[in-house]
Amino acid sequence: MLDTNEEKKPTHNGVFPSSRFSIAPMLDWTDRHCRYFHRLLTKETLLYTEMVTTGAIIHGKGDFLAYNEEEHPVALQLGGSNPQDLATCAKLAAERGYDEINLNVGCPSDRVQNGRFGACLMAEPVLVAECIAAMRDVVDIPVTVKTRIGIDDQDSYEFLTDFVRIVSEKGGCEQFTIHARKAWLSGLSPKENREIPPLDYPRAYQIKQDFAHLNIGVNGGIKTLDESLEHLAHLDGVMVGREAYQNPYLLAHVDQTIFGLDTPVKKRRQVVEEMYPYIEQQLAKGAYLGHITRHMLGLFQNMPGARQWRRYISENAHKPGSGIEVVQAALAKIPQELDV
Ligand SMILES: Cc1cc2nc3c(=O)[nH]c(=O)nc-3n(C[C@H](O)[C@H](O)[C@H](O)COP(=O)(O)O)c2cc1C
Repeated sequence: MLDTNEEKKPTHNGVFPSSRFSIAPMLDWTDRHCRYFHRLLTKETLLYTEMVTTGAIIHGKGDFLAYNEEEHPVALQLGGSNPQDLATCAKLAAERGYDEINLNVGCPSDRVQNGRFGACLMAEPVLVAECIAAMRDVVDIPVTVKTRIGIDDQDSYEFLTDFVRIVSEKGGCEQFTIHARKAWLSGLSPKENREIPPLDYPRAYQIKQDFAHLNIGVNGGIKTLDESLEHLAHLDGVMVGREAYQNPYLLAHVDQTIFGLDTPVKKRRQVVEEMYPYIEQQLAKGAYLGHITRHMLGLFQNMPGARQWRRYISENAHKPGSGIEVVQAALAKIPQELDV
């Protein structure tokens, strides 16, 4: 449990100060092992779960709300569009101690569209408002939205402002994270939809100017903390996805650079060693080593030995019975004299 948790209660507009910098929800990537690892690198950053559908929580077998206490502050991202179902899930999540509920209005995959949620909900702002209101009625934690700047040919500034106005005024949503590119609902894969539509950060900045009372964050294509600081001159928050996952050491400087703490910056080796007790505890519970270490592959990016580190883990962590010795042997591939 983070000892500073008490200080992380929502303050401004019911929004966490941590939302100044967050790691994006990423399906299959930001699972609980990943979030535990990221938390070792940064104490302040707000972490998002992968999107979890209301159907999985309500009807699925297994505990889709499980997380580690150390992950706080942690937001649950929900996928769904039925206000009652979303309210049921939000209540369960709040009872489990999640710090925020976020509704996915940005994912363009076919599967998600078939379920009538994700990015296609941008065309139904009144329904989104009802969803937010239904969740806000049953929880005290912030209920936020992650959205795009538009969908298909509905990509005017007016379309986006209508969405934000209706969802904030009718739904009471006070925080929006805007992935600053539109989504094509057909024709592009989800991956292409993260790369092909051009980024338009000024559009997110304009939303902040026109809705100054709302907490507005931006997402998409952000790769450095310098870029993050530039965005923060215009906006309340920055959300980083792929770069945080692929180059996680970026996160080691966030507490100092973005949140102004003067805590020491951890070395990569220290972070690996701090993972050992967690790995052992998880292996004892039946987890596979590879499911944990896959999130750590990028830690030594651009360092001598990085390729060998990746390779050793990739070739060995999936073998039955693999344990902590695989990570120790991989760490030994990083030259001893390197103080990293
Ligand atoms: C593997 C992967 C899975 C993703 N899954 C989700 C998701 O579950 N929910 C969501 O809102 N966005 C999802 N996204 C989109 C990211 O949250 C983010 O909006 C996008 O990657 C753009 O940010 P970036 O350029 O910093 O990566 C996913 C992205 C990736 C790469």
